[in-house]
Amino acid sequence: MSFYVTTPIYYVNAVPHLGHAYSTIAADILARHHRQRGEDVFFLTGTDEHGEPVVQAAEREGVTPKELADRNSRRFEELMPRIDASNDFFIRTTDPRHVAKVQEVLQRIYDNGHVYSGTYEGWYCPACADFKTDVEVGPDNSCPVHKAPLDWHKEENWFFRLSAFQERLEAHYAQQPDFVMPRTRFNEAISFIRGGLQDVSLSRSQLTWGVPVPWDQSQVFYVWFDALLNYYTALSFARPGEDLTEQFWPASLHLIGKDILKFHTVFWPAMLMAADLPLPQRVFVHGFLLMDGEKMSKSLGNVLDPFEVMERFGTDALRYYCAREVNFGQDGSVSTAGFEARYEGELANEYGNLASRTLAMVARYRDSVVPDGEPDPTIAAEFDGLAERVCELLDRAELTAALDEIWQRIRRLNRFVEERAPWKLAKDPSSGDELDITLYTLIEGIRVVTVLLHPYLPETSKKLLSALGREGLDLADARLGAGAGGATVTPGDPLFPKT
Ligand code: MSP
Repeated sequence: MSFYVTTPIYYVNAVPHLGHAYSTIAADILARHHRQRGEDVFFLTGTDEHGEPVVQAAEREGVTPKELADRNSRRFEELMPRIDASNDFFIRTTDPRHVAKVQEVLQRIYDNGHVYSGTYEGWYCPACADFKTDVEVGPDNSCPVHKAPLDWHKEENWFFRLSAFQERLEAHYAQQPDFVMPRTRFNEAISFIRGGLQDVSLSRSQLTWGVPVPWDQSQVFYVWFDALLNYYTALSFARPGEDLTEQFWPASLHLIGKDILKFHTVFWPAMLMAADLPLPQRVFVHGFLLMDGEKMSKSLGNVLDPFEVMERFGTDALRYYCAREVNFGQDGSVSTAGFEARYEGELANEYGNLASRTLAMVARYRDSVVPDGEPDPTIAAEFDGLAERVCELLDRAELTAALDEIWQRIRRLNRFVEERAPWKLAKDPSSGDELDITLYTLIEGIRVVTVLLHPYLPETSKKLLSALGREGLDLADARLGAGAGGATVTPGDPLFPKT
């Protein structure tokens, strides 16, 4: 079974902030989870390097667009290992192999009769690189995303006959109720489609920083058409000497933020239909991380620097916070105080302490060897079906809900420690069996939650599993009691030290 997951590709006119790390961390959690299920996973991320905003930013900085793209793309590429993203490839849209493939697919769309030449007139946001439809124009002809004035543009362009795909899109949505998730976003997409589709301009004549239109070298493709195709083109050259298209196309899941819904749920499927290519299985739309009630973004200047956060709290803490604090799919506020509270209260106290207490007790009372035994039946019953439930939720990209299921068990194990008070059992020689059961159950419980937490906390899970003497990450073993006793534990430093 294969699983192909993508992030949006990031604009290089700015440097990475937490909003970008957010999309990537979410995709990485799913990629790692599917690998644990034994699936063949391909995880793609990268940078979107053409278009007017890049030209403008390069002008401001006195460099060429290519220089700016090289410099900023590197910063995104370097972000990936820093946040522990396990992407299989990093695509850059300036890669000549991408360019050639974009031309090939769009030529096919042209040959199939879905392109014509015309004049475009309308409101345009240079920062979104998007022509706004009437309903998308904000007060005083401003951009609702950037709160900046829109430009009135008029030019001769090539047009994509989007309007011709309305019925096919509606039919697709009717047949695939999970095509766009969550449901509110599905409804948003379908109502946009039902509202009537206008043809869209496919090329730009006053710009040279883009992919040349093969049948008209005086124009370049509108950056969104070039960018969307990355999901498809990458497969043909990501692995040297191989073409992965057969194996991984159509994509299993595109993860995107809500600001780019129209492109991914309307333009993109229509383009694929026009090129006779299969459509992705699902698009999951997440919300925004907000600071002081506004979308965190470079242009608004309210960004939380992920590098600083990782310096202080560690990569796993950042990943955890992103999945935990804001219900994935909705908007939510983030703050440094929020980080501190989750780090102390949950990671250090609930999880870290549970692990270090338990390891210390096995070391002290059982000479570091995990006792053999049956798990406590009450706890076993409460862990029953946990891995399946997590799989079910992650199949719907419900990162926060899945994490919460796991965390409930961590809390349950903490209560179990208090109920059983192993330090009391250890004083009473007649309670040896009960102490064995208690310690075995705790170790197994910690092992199971840690295997399940691996996608969220890759570093911590590896460290802790190794301290438990059981390193397997396979989801099939994420069952209480699947690990036998007899392993030797090695308590180490606190998992989440005081900052
Ligand atoms: N280049 C386009 C995407 C092309 S995909 C074919 C783009 N780039 S972006 O860099 O502006 O944004 C990339 C992703 O980051 C989007 O999904 C966007 O929603 C996400 N985020 C940027 N700021 C964000 C927050 N403050 N919160 C959550 N995600 C946000 O759009």
